[in-house]
Amino acid sequence: MDQKIFIFDTTLRDGEQVPGCKLNKKEKIELALELEALGVDILEAGFPISSPGDFDAVHEIATLLKKTVVCGLSRAVQKDIEVAAAALKPAARKRIHTGIGTSDFHIKAKFNSTREEILQRAIQAVKWARNFTDDVEFYAEDAGRTDNEYLARVVEAVIAAGATTVNIPDTTGYCLPYQYGEKIAYLINNVPNVDKAVLSCHCHNDLGLATANSIAGIIAGARQIECTINGLGERAGNTSLEEVVMIIKQHGHLGFFTGINAKELNPMSRKVSDTMRMPVQPNKAIVGANAFSHSSGIHQDGFLKDTTTYEIIAPEEVGADSSKIVLTARSGRSALAYRFKNLGHDFNRNDIDFLYEEFLKVADTQKEVYDEDLEKMVKAYQGKAIAV
Ligand code: KIV
Ligand code: ZN
Repeated sequence: MDQKIFIFDTTLRDGEQVPGCKLNKKEKIELALELEALGVDILEAGFPISSPGDFDAVHEIATLLKKTVVCGLSRAVQKDIEVAAAALKPAARKRIHTGIGTSDFHIKAKFNSTREEILQRAIQAVKWARNFTDDVEFYAEDAGRTDNEYLARVVEAVIAAGATTVNIPDTTGYCLPYQYGEKIAYLINNVPNVDKAVLSCHCHNDLGLATANSIAGIIAGARQIECTINGLGERAGNTSLEEVVMIIKQHGHLGFFTGINAKELNPMSRKVSDTMRMPVQPNKAIVGANAFSHSSGIHQDGFLKDTTTYEIIAPEEVGADSSKIVLTARSGRSALAYRFKNLGHDFNRNDIDFLYEEFLKVADTQKEVYDEDLEKMVKAYQGKAIAV
C-alpha cells in the first residue's frame, strides 16, 4: 500500500525569513487558511519568541486552523519553548518544534560547547516541550554536516525523551542526494527506537539540490518533507512544496502519496508571490510563467501533434493557465499556422510559406511576436493579394 508523506509547510517561518518577505498578522492568517485548504499536514506558523507580532500571528492561526497541525519554532531554551507553547495554546492540534545545532561547526563555533553537553541540552529541550504537548519535533540543525554516528546518538536520545518527529535538516544545503539518502538510511538502520518517530527532511537549496535531497530522504525512509511555496526560504531557499508534491504524483512507482490538492498549486503560488511581493522566476518548475510555454519549432511541432511529446504534466492538473505556443525567431511553421488559426485565419500551406518569411523578418527584430503583429502581417498579405 502507498505510504503517506507528511507535508510540513514552513512558508510562514523559513519562507518569511527571506529579506523583503516579512508578513503582517493579517497576511499571515490569510495564507495560513489557504495553506490549510491546500492540504498541508503541518503548518509552521512562526517563531513565537522572535517578536510580539509573530507571537500574535501564531496565536491567531492556532485559534483558526481546525484540521492542520499548527507548529511553532523554538530554540532549545526553556523560555522559547514556554512562549511557543503559550502561542499555540488554542490550537486544536499543536506541535512544538525545538532543537539545536549538532554539527561540530555549530557545537564549537556557535555554542563553544561539546558533543556531550549538546546532547544533554537536546534531551532537556524535548522534555520541556513534552510538558505542553505530546507532539514534539526535534531539529538537529546542520544535520547535513553532522557526523552520522553522533547524529544517531542524538536522534536516539531525543526519541527516548519524547520527540515524535525528528527533523534532519541539511541547513546549509551541502549534501549530495546520495549522501542525504545515506544519512537517513544510516539513522533508520542504527537508531534502535527509530520506529517510534517520523524522520523529516528539511533541505536548503544552496547548491540547487533541496528538492532532490528531500526525495532521496523519503526513498531512504523519511516520511515528512519540510518545504515552502515557491521554494522560498533562508538564502537560496528551501525545498519547494509544489516540486515534491508533483514528483511524488508523477512517480507513482515510488509508492508515496500526499494530501495536497495539486489543482491549487498555481493559485497558491500566485497568492504567496503577491502577498510576499516576491516574483516567481519564469522558468520555475510547476508554477513559473514559462512552465507550460513552448517556443522552439521542434517542440511546438511535436506538442501540436500530441501534447505528451513535450509535457509530462497537464497544466490543469496543477491549476495553471493552458499551455502556450509562444512565437519567437526559433518558432516554426506549425506554430505560426496554429496561432493564425486561433485568430480566425485558416491559411493553406502556400500562404503559410509566404507568411513565414514575413514572420521571420519581424521575429528577428523583437523578442516575441504577438497577436497584433500577426494581424498586421495578415492585413499586408491580404492587401497584396487584392492588388495582384
Ligand atoms: O534550516 C534549518 O536547520 C532550520 C531549523 C531551524 C529547522 O530552519
Ligand atoms: Zn531551514
